[in-house]
Amino acid sequence: MTLAIGIDIGGTKVLGGVVDPEGKVLASTLRPSPAQEPVKIREVVTEIIEDLRRDHEVSAIGVGAAGWIDEKRSTVLFAPNLAWRNEPLRDGLMSNIDIPVVVENDANVATWAEFRFGAGRKANSAVLFTVGTGIGGGIVLEGNLVRGAHGIAAEFGHTLAVPGGITCGCGRSGCLEQYASGSALVRVARRAALDAPGKARKLLEAADANPAAITGPMVTQAARDGDPVAIAAFDEIGGYLGEALADMIQLFDPDVAIIGGGVIKAGELLLKPARDRFEAVLHARGQLPVGRITAAEMGPEAGIIGAADLARR
Ligand code: BGC
Ligand code: NA
Ligand code: ZN
Repeated sequence: MTLAIGIDIGGTKVLGGVVDPEGKVLASTLRPSPAQEPVKIREVVTEIIEDLRRDHEVSAIGVGAAGWIDEKRSTVLFAPNLAWRNEPLRDGLMSNIDIPVVVENDANVATWAEFRFGAGRKANSAVLFTVGTGIGGGIVLEGNLVRGAHGIAAEFGHTLAVPGGITCGCGRSGCLEQYASGSALVRVARRAALDAPGKARKLLEAADANPAAITGPMVTQAARDGDPVAIAAFDEIGGYLGEALADMIQLFDPDVAIIGGGVIKAGELLLKPARDRFEAVLHARGQLPVGRITAAEMGPEAGIIGAADLARR
């Protein structure tokens, strides 16, 4: 049985795990992420790998990272929400490690995990949006992960949502990530709580009456408790996501479009407005077959499972 290690480098934590060929996680290690310090990230990843290899023999290591990765699966070219600029992550790691390491985009590895073992396991083609701090994307067409000529395909978060809109971490303005991510959810909720505190009672209660202290989990909880401002914030970001889903379905005609990332914990609060808008804007509505829209199933381990599985190939 060939085991592989998958590592998921996030903005707040780094998760690593030993994964078997069926996508089962046999052991895992979690550390806080020194996200703004590339050299420390490498140290943390090396420590996690050493820790996991102590008890397991592994043949390959896959690392998922939130940015544009080159086609050699080696260098992080740019990361809009992290401090990486032309970071030779694979070579840095391989100087301490004697088995092959590959670096992949974080959303691509999550997509691969869902395709192999999760919400896309019965599909031939799938697209996935990860909704978290940013928005990531992934495309599997007829069984193959689409990386593009330069490794940087499927950046759904940096497609246009609002012409002339908010400036994005990537330098463009109006990107989907600015309107449909977890960060956008918080921004919309904070602004609404400032503008109409009387309506945002539950939300402000959770944030000790300070709109700037509102977090994503607070918005989710308040929406579950019926807070109209929190629900409206989900409707707003879900609407933008639904528009983007319609574009992606028209481009790729997948069996399934999957919504993942941390914010999908909110379930129908996000899915329903996304589906509603998707159905409302779809061209030739009712006349054409369309793929399903569904929630991711692999949870927070999707990244490590997909990274490990891709590293074995
Ligand atoms: C980055 C992507 C990443 C996504 C999710 C975006 O801002 O450009 O590379 O997949 O965030 O982390
Ligand atoms: Na991607
Ligand atoms: Zn952008």
